[in-house]
Amino acid sequence: MADDISLKKIVEEAFSFGEIYIAELHKEGPFDYHLEIQDLDYPSTSSKELGYDFYELINEFTQNSLKSMLGIQRWKDISLKRYDTTKLDENNFSIEVGLAIERENYVISVTDNGNGIEPENLKRIWEPKYSTCGTPGRGLPRVIEIVDKYNARVDVQSEVGKQTTFTVYLPIE
Ligand SMILES: Nc1ncnc2c1ncn2[C@@H]1O[C@H](COP(=O)(O)OP(=O)(O)OP(=O)(O)O)[C@@H](O)[C@H]1O
Ligand SMILES: [Mg+2]
Repeated sequence: MADDISLKKIVEEAFSFGEIYIAELHKEGPFDYHLEIQDLDYPSTSSKELGYDFYELINEFTQNSLKSMLGIQRWKDISLKRYDTTKLDENNFSIEVGLAIERENYVISVTDNGNGIEPENLKRIWEPKYSTCGTPGRGLPRVIEIVDKYNARVDVQSEVGKQTTFTVYLPIE
């Protein structure tokens, strides 16, 4: 990543990393994967670290979405066909990655229409080692670390069987 990078570029790069894998999914069935960026000027930051951190964060949300929809644990599971391909035909799965500016914040979001999270588990998902997928449960605690480092805030909204949205509010310096 270049020294000077805007959050727009970070979000676009994180999104396009998934595109090659999603193209593999498309061979098996429909899957809507799209990017929604509010048409604004996004100033550059010279912090390389912010670039890496937010790239990681967007990837974590996207992987969690794929896990909830297809049981995919990591991107390469798509190429290895480690998922139930029939699920693609039965559901109109979608993941939307978004970036906008709201008041003094960048708003980065990932929305999926996977299984959703039961209301009683909404608090627990942030706990280290909490996982309903037999995976380490390290992702969301890592998200909290990143969010805290930048004085950002993260929020989750979910409806079981319908959709889940993770939103990060990052203060514009
Ligand atoms: N988009 C989502 N849809 C449904 N459930 C989710 C979603 N994102 C997170 N969760 C729930 O939150 C739990 C914790 O997520 P977290 O990323 O911390 O761990 P993990 O993905 O299970 O393991 P790891 O991230 O270490 O691979 C998940 O196991 C799942 O139950
Ligand atoms: Mg995870």
